[in-house]
Parts: sequence; structure tokens; C-alpha cells
Amino acid sequence: MKVYIAFLLGFVMLGTSCSRKSASAPGPTPTAVGAAIVESSGGKQFAQTGSLLPQPLIVQVNDAQGTAIPGALVEFAAPPGVTLDPPSALSDSSGQVTTNVSLGGMAGRYQITAFTLDKSHNKVELKLEEIALGYRQTLGRRLNDQYCDRCHNSESTVERVSNYDNLEVKPHPFSEKATLSKLTDADLNAIITNGGPALQKSALMPAWGNTLSKSEIQALIAYIRAVSDPPSRDSGPLYSETGH
Ligand code: HEC
Repeated sequence: MKVYIAFLLGFVMLGTSCSRKSASAPGPTPTAVGAAIVESSGGKQFAQTGSLLPQPLIVQVNDAQGTAIPGALVEFAAPPGVTLDPPSALSDSSGQVTTNVSLGGMAGRYQITAFTLDKSHNKVELKLEEIALGYRQTLGRRLNDQYCDRCHNSESTVERVSNYDNLEVKPHPFSEKATLSKLTDADLNAIITNGGPALQKSALMPAWGNTLSKSEIQALIAYIRAVSDPPSRDSGPLYSETGH
């Protein structure tokens, strides 16, 4: 009887541990271990809720001296609703592991953890954040790309030559918390609707009240709040892996 209960218990525990970590289907067998895991690229991206991030997430496993380690096992963990493809892999010849990330259906920040085990079997991990934009924030982002980015983003792209370098007074990127969090929603509404002078700022910041509707301006404000870096009080919830 005792044996039977122990067996049953073991079975139940096995069952729960499996369902909790559905990502860890028998992964590849590592041929090396590292001492650290660092971001190569792909953190702090944004995409509409439920969609694939534009760039993959790439992390690198290093040894204690900072040299890349091929063949180390990296596993990714994320809150419910996030899809990671693949959820685990061995680092390639340059020590890197690439995964494609689809965000969950709720607007906010999603924390993604990449981890590997060092030679003493201790977990070394890296936490990254990605931003899922809700419907209104996505609309704000499109308006930003269309009307604002050419001055507020100093980098040029194939479709858009930045005007930033020509401006005598420099605008800020909307992610820049130090500047943007000093402005209330009413301030943002005023400067976007009526231009720089509404906040005693430069007239190089045009008025958009005749171009954009009130709800479009609200969408821009929602977008500006969502992309705050580091996150603001009002930049939306943070979803992290449950129980960690
Ligand atoms: C023609 C260039 C230009 C465009 C286009 C433009 N801005 Fe600006 N913006 C400025 C400049 C210059 C400032 C800085 C004014 C100052 O500090 O005196 C500014 C400042 C701001 C500020 C205050 C924070 C900061 O960056 O200093 C906000 C908010 C803002 N703009 C929002 C917008 C939005 C939203 C749009 C698109 C609808 C937009 N801007 C489009 C030039 C521009």
C-alpha cells in the first residue's frame, strides 16, 4: 500500500512538473557550459499584441573571460501567451542562440528570461523585455511613423530621411523617459495639438490640431506612454513568468 501511494505521488509530481514546463520537451544535449549569458540583439522591441516581433531575439553564451561558448544549452521562459520558436537550443559556433518571439494578447510589457547552466549547475540568466502594443497604441505608432518620426528620430531609414540634424532645437525620442515623463497627458495634448509654443517651447515643433483628430492625438499619447524607457508608472503592466 505504502509503495503504491509513493508511486502514485511520484506519478502526480511528474505530471505537474511536465505540465508546468511544457517548453522543456527533451532538449538537445549540451556539449559545453558557459558562465554568462548576454543580449546580442532583439530586446525592447514592440509589436502589436499577439504578433511576431520584427526581429528575433539573439543571446550569447560566454565563459568567464567573455569568450563565446558554442554548444551550450539555452532555454527561454516567458509568461503565458508568448510563443518562443524554438524554446531552447544549443549555442551556435559564435556562441549565439536565436529565437522568434510572438507576444501575448494583452497590451503591456513581457519579460522573457534566457538561461543556461554553468559548470556548477547554477542557473545564469538574462531578463529581457518586449512591448506589446494594444489597438490604440498601434494606431499611435502608425501616426508617429507617418508624422513625427522624421524629426523625433535621428536615424534615417530607406523610406524616410531624418530631419533631426537640420533642427536647431532638438526633439527627443518618445522612449526617453527623462524628458517625456515630465509632461502630463494634458501637456502632451497641448503641445501636439497647438505646437511647441503651447508649452513655451520652440515653434519648430508644429501644431497638429488641424491635421489629426482628438482621438488620433490620444492614440499618440498612448503610444508615447507605452514605449517609455525605462518604463513609467503609466506604461502598462509587466507580465513575467508566473512563480519566478
Ligand atoms: C518638423 C519637426 C517636428 C515634427 C514633424 C514633430 N515634432 Fe515634436 N518637436 C519638435 C521639436 C524641435 C521639439 C523640441 C521643442 C523644444 O524643446 O523647444 C519637439 C518637441 C515635442 C514634444 C516635447 C518633448 C520633446 O521631444 O522635447 C512632444 C511631446 C512632441 N514634440 C510630439 C510630437 C508629435 C506627437 C509629433 C507627430 C504628430 C511631432 N512631435 C512631430 C519637432 C517636430
